[in-house]
Amino acid sequence: MIQILPSILAADFARLGEQVRLVEAAGAEMLHVDIMDGHFVPNFTLGTPITESLRRVTNVKLDHHLMIEDPDTYAPVFIKAGADCVSVHYEVCRNLDRTINMIREHGAQAGVVINPATSTALLENVLDIVDYVLVMSVNPGYGGQKFIPNSLCKVKQLARMRAERKLNFAIEIDGGVGTENIAEVAKAGVDWFVAGSSVFHAPDPAQAVHDLRRQAQQANFVKV
Ligand code: DX5
Ligand code: ZN
Repeated sequence: MIQILPSILAADFARLGEQVRLVEAAGAEMLHVDIMDGHFVPNFTLGTPITESLRRVTNVKLDHHLMIEDPDTYAPVFIKAGADCVSVHYEVCRNLDRTINMIREHGAQAGVVINPATSTALLENVLDIVDYVLVMSVNPGYGGQKFIPNSLCKVKQLARMRAERKLNFAIEIDGGVGTENIAEVAKAGVDWFVAGSSVFHAPDPAQAVHDLRRQAQQANFVKV
């Protein structure tokens, strides 16, 4: 099912509750929350106080993207704070199968994320245990970057693997998605679209959510 996930990294943190209500009223059913530790990526962002605050003001699903070196320690902490979905980077997990199962045992949906330089082939042995796969379409660390076109090939590969093996994981994309490219991204097979700047830097974030969803749904309907 098509979902637009506004990424709060691009929101105005001084008005976070208000901004969340805007996109929720526009029909967003999930929010994307970027957690960065300054080690795996060259930036810091949010911690559990933000997750707890969000949990108090909204019932939408909180999708946590852990761009951190130690997801085994912190995934349970974010789940306890209110995360519904937690994704971990392939590049940092030495025991990925164990980490994914641990997230699910803590009651959250589990996702695996791959960076632009990481191949989809490396996920072959976990596709049957993940709830979703997140394809990074920019190098993680910052909002507002340019979409890397090769990400579409990776989405198509994953969609093919999913169909061939009759699996159900969702395909999520993150980085540089906006009205100029969402139709093409949807046609490649994406279900969940993270949108930071294209929602919260738009003059009307609610309208931006509507426009992105309409374009993604139309493209999905006509995909071959
Ligand atoms: C980047 C983050 C993204 C970011 C996307 O490392 O993972 O979620 O918020 O922002 P936009 O949509 O502006 O590229
Ligand atoms: Zn993200």
